[in-house]
Amino acid sequence: MSGALQLGPAEAQRVALISDALQGLSLPRKTLPCKWLYDAEGARLFEAITRLPEYYPTRTEVRILDECGPEIANAVGPGAAVIEFGPGDGAKAVQLLQALQAPSVYLPVDIAPEWLTAVTSRVAAAFPELPVKPVVADFTQQFDLAGRAAGSATHLGFFPGSTIGNFEPQDASRFLQRARSTLRPGSRMLLGADLVKDIAVLEAAYDDASGVTAAFNLNLLRRLNREAGADFDLAGFHHRALWNAAEERIEMHLVALHAQSVRLAGRVIRFAAGESIHTESSHKYRPERIEALAAGAGWCKARMWTDPDRLFSVWLLDG
Ligand code: AVI
Repeated sequence: MSGALQLGPAEAQRVALISDALQGLSLPRKTLPCKWLYDAEGARLFEAITRLPEYYPTRTEVRILDECGPEIANAVGPGAAVIEFGPGDGAKAVQLLQALQAPSVYLPVDIAPEWLTAVTSRVAAAFPELPVKPVVADFTQQFDLAGRAAGSATHLGFFPGSTIGNFEPQDASRFLQRARSTLRPGSRMLLGADLVKDIAVLEAAYDDASGVTAAFNLNLLRRLNREAGADFDLAGFHHRALWNAAEERIEMHLVALHAQSVRLAGRVIRFAAGESIHTESSHKYRPERIEALAAGAGWCKARMWTDPDRLFSVWLLDG
């Protein structure tokens, strides 16, 4: 009999959160992985962000998918299996599936089974005839479709929302390489990527007037208090969004308003006044960088669609 302790999924997640927090908060430049922003409250706040007047990415991408839907459908052709990496609430899947010609199957992929339940019901309700086959897997790693898309005319990966921008560029490249292996060479990928633009537009999108993005960022400290037994004083930190011109990314930080100490899992973490925790990077791309990133991962550009103001881009890649 093995003496190893078996942790349930919630406990395993708590252990991983504590480990990431202890590691990230002991670095000279404190940081926390952005995946921890999305507990139930974080997911609710992110949904609210997508409806803010300042947050242009979601509505712009939705508009591109809407207006360019027939062209996308023609370029993809009939009978595609749609494999969506991290489907969120499934709203964009519904939009894409509506545009495509006779899609054969929809496969939402996420590590959290509870996220897949809602998207599966939403898509199944919208398309009662379409097989929907959820895949529980970490989509940043290579995984096996296990024949779920067999017999389809093509495999179409779908990664909207510019979530690719939340990866460091080398991780974005690794993701695209692994996705190509998962989907199989000869597949296609529909990718949403936010573009470099005016700094004021970018900073407003990540620091909105009504404070929803600030609440989203600060919620991470509330989560650490609840799940990692930390004692962050939320009033002692404030949200800051800044454009890092060298890396072409918006960074979200939580900045200590005064010198303070925080306890976390039996350790004391000290903050100087003005010291920050870097909680998220959102890389913005120039079209040529997306092409180079894709090419380095074995994909080549088939088409690119954008909006009249060139805020956002949607790419069809051939693998
Ligand atoms: C999920 N992701 C693409 C969002 C972004 O724009 O980078 C997350 C976000 N963070 C603050 N606002 C939105």
